[in-house]
Amino acid sequence: MKVHVMPQGQQLDVRYGENLLTALQAAQIPVSYSCMSGRCGTCRCKVLEGDVDESTGYAFHNVAQAHERQILACQATVTGDCTIEVPEPDEVVVHPAKIVKATVTALADLTHDIRLLRVLPAKPLTFSPGQYATLQFTPDHIRPYSMARIAADTEMEFHVRLVPDGRVTSYIRDTLRVGDTLRISGPLGTSYLRTRNADPILCIAGGTGLAPVLSLVRGAVEAGMTNPIRLYFGVRSPRDVYGIEWLKALAAAHPGLHVELVSTLPGGGGLRTGHVTEAVNEDFADLRGWRSYLCGAPPMVDAATTLLRQKGVLPEHIYADAFFASGT
Ligand SMILES: Cc1cc2nc3c(=O)[nH]c(=O)nc-3n(C[C@H](O)[C@H](O)[C@H](O)COP(=O)(O)OP(=O)(O)OC[C@H]3O[C@@H](n4cnc5c(N)ncnc54)[C@H](O)[C@@H]3O)c2cc1C
Ligand code: FES
Repeated sequence: MKVHVMPQGQQLDVRYGENLLTALQAAQIPVSYSCMSGRCGTCRCKVLEGDVDESTGYAFHNVAQAHERQILACQATVTGDCTIEVPEPDEVVVHPAKIVKATVTALADLTHDIRLLRVLPAKPLTFSPGQYATLQFTPDHIRPYSMARIAADTEMEFHVRLVPDGRVTSYIRDTLRVGDTLRISGPLGTSYLRTRNADPILCIAGGTGLAPVLSLVRGAVEAGMTNPIRLYFGVRSPRDVYGIEWLKALAAAHPGLHVELVSTLPGGGGLRTGHVTEAVNEDFADLRGWRSYLCGAPPMVDAATTLLRQKGVLPEHIYADAFFASGT
């Protein structure tokens, strides 16, 4: 059977039941992948028409329109002639997923309820700026957290908001100590930095969503990108602001970076008041031609996605891995 691959326009001969990712790799079609097990979302493709079966059981959250049929190539088998679209073939990232042991090197308070966690992995873990990993502290304490630094750094850093009565964050607050070991599994996620374009970038971070945004902006600086970057950091109240020194250092390294701090509750500190999406709405009449990275809680990501679509950002240029609670 035939698989037509867009936008390349290539046609592949594929056996019935063949794994789609394997078929694309065999034909040397550039396609991103990492975990090969349906967890990371990096191999996401669009089915334009035809027959592709997906294995079930994985709830993948994305920002795509409902009528688009998104599939994970590593979990899909070809069962008939079909046409699929591989996203951004010039922006392929391949970081084979790994599980590495790591040792806690630092724990510190960034705010009244945000904890910095720094770890030294036993082996380097490559990832793209903006991605996340699953941290396993014990077999009963496992959660995803976003990398706040870039892969070139020897140590990895995470920013964890302590959720009242949260199972894993309570463990991090009360039990985890410097010198303890954990397992890091990843990298995961599709909201990684796209480096091969000159488009202006809008980053919207809510709370600890600043972690992946710091990684994204650091990554842009390290990659020598000169794209203008507007960074909106939304917090609930002024006491939730952190990372000001890091943001100042990034602004010094990237002249095109402009940072806006927005607090939902008033309370001084010279911050704008309101929801972060309201500030974006006030500041931009038209965002056609922009790319946007949305990092934080699902309600903020949903509200920002709706707003950006209204302002003309293409859906394929809105990148988000919302911080969904795991519930397990
Ligand atoms: C892709 C991804 C990346 C993530 N990156 C980060 C990160 O960089 N930093 C970070 O702090 N978190 C991040 N998270 C969230 C993190 O994985 C956990 O969900 C969070 O730390 C709570 O875990 P817990 O076990 O303490 O809470 P749970 O025991 O799972 O939850 C306890 C209660 O709190 C609620 N709850 C859970 N999370 C939140 C929240 N964020 N706000 C309000 N209520 C909540 C739950 O619904 C539940 O009622 C990320 C999640 C995803 C999916
Ligand atoms: S490589 Fe397919 S979901 Fe991770």
